[in-house]
Amino acid sequence: MNKILNTAIVGMGRAGSFHLTSMKIIDGFNLKYVVDPDTEKLASIGLPTQTKRLTDIDAVLNDQDVDAVVIASPTEYHYDYILKSLNADKHVFTEKPLGHCLSEVKECFDTAAKNNKALHLGFQRRFDHNFIALKSNLSTINDVRMVRASSRDNPKPSYEYLKTSGNIFHDMLIHDFDMMLFLLGPKAPETINVFAKCYDKKIEAMDDYDTVVVSMQFDNGLIYTVDTSRTSVYGYDQRLEVFGSDGMLVAENELDSNLNIYAKDGIKQAPVSYSFPQRYKSAYLAELVFFESSIRNGELYNVTKEEAILSHLIADACYVSAKEGRLVRFKEEYY
Ligand SMILES: NC(=O)c1ccc[n+]([C@@H]2O[C@H](COP(=O)([O-])OP(=O)(O)OC[C@H]3O[C@@H](n4cnc5c(N)ncnc54)[C@H](O)[C@@H]3O)[C@@H](O)[C@H]2O)c1
Repeated sequence: MNKILNTAIVGMGRAGSFHLTSMKIIDGFNLKYVVDPDTEKLASIGLPTQTKRLTDIDAVLNDQDVDAVVIASPTEYHYDYILKSLNADKHVFTEKPLGHCLSEVKECFDTAAKNNKALHLGFQRRFDHNFIALKSNLSTINDVRMVRASSRDNPKPSYEYLKTSGNIFHDMLIHDFDMMLFLLGPKAPETINVFAKCYDKKIEAMDDYDTVVVSMQFDNGLIYTVDTSRTSVYGYDQRLEVFGSDGMLVAENELDSNLNIYAKDGIKQAPVSYSFPQRYKSAYLAELVFFESSIRNGELYNVTKEEAILSHLIADACYVSAKEGRLVRFKEEYY
């Protein structure tokens, strides 16, 4: 397929904005439409001259010249838009999560396969150069025994966003579960134990948490721990450490610059990236570049159905572990 791919972005909030930035750069895409019901927001966005503004997705679905749809709407609409787009013969790139329950996740993949259309998930960490470098060096530390990830958000998302986000496991930690599968392969942990707390009363009233530690153990003994928080005053904190029998790999935070200021009272460094658009700027671009080339090469997925199911089930199991205050025997109970 040599032609320019006509696309649409659906949802022009935080995620829609970083996808718009990428769309403007990638040669193989022509952004034909952006969709958002918020007319004020729609009017305020700077768009390429040929791009039309729409308040609902119908014209995109009915336009046979549209090849691909990027879904960045609030989570509650993903499943519906994914199915409608795939059934309207469009390739789909969607922000996570795919759906609210396992059957919806499966149905999305089955519909993509049935229609022979690409279905890519917005797990941009797979395209982050630090994590790619870490993965490609795993063999240097031999037997991997422990992984420790910190994954702390900044700034805290709006309460309106949080209300329909799923929960901290499906909305935030799902990235870490996917990273675990990216690093170790699609293996299910034997056990999962979660400690969780909610400091923000409004989030607590949503039956959700804002501070969580997840520990998972695999049948070979490997222990994988992730800690997360909905806020982190010093910036967007995303670190990964892998400890093995022959050494350790550490992917550190990205800073605004690499300047160190040496003074009498110590050494000062630039701040950690403010939030995800800064931290993952190049990964957001790389994931859409990959989507574009995949459509041309006929590669349907960037994350397999098996991986998407596993990360979804792990998120479900984590919620149960937190809520019931118990260790979940994941393989026995879920897999
Ligand atoms: N991969 C990542 O790093 C990342 C980061 C942020 C958000 N996300 C995901 O992106 C999605 C959007 O999150 P966000 O932070 O951009 O939210 P947001 O609240 O900033 O923006 C959502 C936008 O969607 C619009 N909208 C509302 N109803 C709509 C509808 N029915 N159809 C189309 N658009 C609609 C809103 O007007 C708003 O402009 C979420 O599912 C979230 O999980 C992913």
